[in-house]
Amino acid sequence: MDQKTYIMIKPDAVERGLVGSIIARFEACGLRLERVEHGMVTPEQAAANYAEHEGKPFYEGLVEYITSGPVVKMVISGPEAVVVCRKLMGATNPRDAAPGTIRGDFGLTLDANIIHGSDSPESAEREIAIFFG
Ligand code: RTP
Ligand code: MG
Repeated sequence: MDQKTYIMIKPDAVERGLVGSIIARFEACGLRLERVEHGMVTPEQAAANYAEHEGKPFYEGLVEYITSGPVVKMVISGPEAVVVCRKLMGATNPRDAAPGTIRGDFGLTLDANIIHGSDSPESAEREIAIFFG
């Protein structure tokens, strides 16, 4: 059965013109693009999305960064979409991410790590509600 996940191309990747290349990775393996929206993340959406990290040393910078410029918000669907997308994205730190993954191929720093993806079906449901209502 198909699953949905929330994927967000972060501000630095949008600024660098990587949107098409990144979306192509998801489409190439057969995942489907259900929703796509270019726009800003509000401080309220950022706080809700990153609630699990509140209080951590990198939290303030993370919220500041994700609200700093336009992002591309997406709902992607397919079999096991949550884990398949996380696999395509690669490790959180681009320097640890394998070549061939989105972070491994396009990123270099943990702060600007190109892309966000839900980490479980429950997170996906919560995040889709935050960004698409
Ligand atoms: P994401 O939520 O963005 O898909 O990434 P993730 O699950 O792989 O990583 P997570 O632990 O949820 O961290 C969320 C984002 O916070 C930034 N981060 N910075 N400076 C640090 O130690 C640190 N740790 C995490 C990253 O941008 C990460 O994507
Ligand atoms: Mg996460």
